[in-house]
Amino acid sequence: MKVAVIGGGSWGLALSSVLSNNKHQVLVYDVNPKIVEKINKLHISYQLDEDIPKDIVATNNLSEAINFSDTILFVVPTKVLRVALKDVIQILQAPKLFINAAKGIEPETFLRVSEIFEEMVPKKYLKGFVALSGPSHAEEVIRNMTTAVTCASEDEKNALFAQKLFHNNDYFRVYSSTDLKGAELGGALKNIFALASGLIAGKGLGDNARAALITRGLVEMQKFYENYGADTLSLFGLTGIGDLVVTCTSPHSRNYQAGFKIGHGKDLKETLNSMTMVVEGIRTCEAAYKYAIYHDLDLPIIKAIYYVLFNDMDPEIALKSLFERSKKKEI
Ligand SMILES: NC(=O)c1ccc[n+]([C@@H]2O[C@H](COP(=O)([O-])OP(=O)(O)OC[C@H]3O[C@@H](n4cnc5c(N)ncnc54)[C@H](O)[C@@H]3O)[C@@H](O)[C@H]2O)c1
Repeated sequence: MKVAVIGGGSWGLALSSVLSNNKHQVLVYDVNPKIVEKINKLHISYQLDEDIPKDIVATNNLSEAINFSDTILFVVPTKVLRVALKDVIQILQAPKLFINAAKGIEPETFLRVSEIFEEMVPKKYLKGFVALSGPSHAEEVIRNMTTAVTCASEDEKNALFAQKLFHNNDYFRVYSSTDLKGAELGGALKNIFALASGLIAGKGLGDNARAALITRGLVEMQKFYENYGADTLSLFGLTGIGDLVVTCTSPHSRNYQAGFKIGHGKDLKETLNSMTMVVEGIRTCEAAYKYAIYHDLDLPIIKAIYYVLFNDMDPEIALKSLFERSKKKEI
């Protein structure tokens, strides 16, 4: 198979490596000429400084990438998704299956990535949409380390197609799902708790606090799924608890790293300036906070993180506010 990849950052190239190892032909498009040059001349990931298979080719020419295949893997940060998609739409001449591996929610609209595709891509060119999600740090996938993810689509045949494309028997196991809402929500919401987990580590609050955060974070995700109409069973899967655990416990997580810096006293602006890669949890936190207010959902952790990120609340005061809430039954 041929696959065009839009976005040659850390995750785009880690997934390109999986596809290349699975004997597919990969053409990567990135707006940054430096990235294209590093792929074509040095065969490395610019962001991760890791080798990638030599048969992965990159281009600065978007038309070349779009016309390369009917299967397009999108891996650009959600912040630039609409800009990237606008350029792609102008070139489309045939229906494409879009697989998206970015994880986030649009703060202004609370639209999931699949909904942005539906809104922007003319129906005749949208053959289908699949979300690829689960506990998967690019740093490990690019080194062919054991990983399991889920390909979710409302149309099962598209989920199965993507599963077959990415799955291999060596290190990359892929499950299929038809709960697209759950997969997209899980991949986005877990980044908020990763920020909180980093904050906890930055403040030196210990492992008990982190375990409490993960557990109560899962409860907040459940309330969210129920209100949103996603399948709460997905919370027990790779796109739910799987991704939540890896992102709250691994120093590879940018969201964890950002939270860690804020926990150490840096403000949000300073933190973002010091990060070279995307921190999706910040935009997702804004989106989730607004959604919770609008739908009157009791999501105290998400609200506390929002106050720390956007209202300059001291993390210790935010934590205290969580403890000062009235006592409750656990379940
Ligand atoms: N890195 C990971 O381990 C990982 C794992 C799972 C999911 N994700 C998700 O994948 C998404 C991308 O993350 P990343 O780590 O690859 O980010 P990154 O910052 O490493 O790379 C993003 C890439 O997108 C490119 N880009 C920006 N605008 C573009 C455009 N208009 N057209 C084409 N390319 C464009 C940039 O030049 C950059 O190379 C995020 O939503 C992230 O949450 C990342």
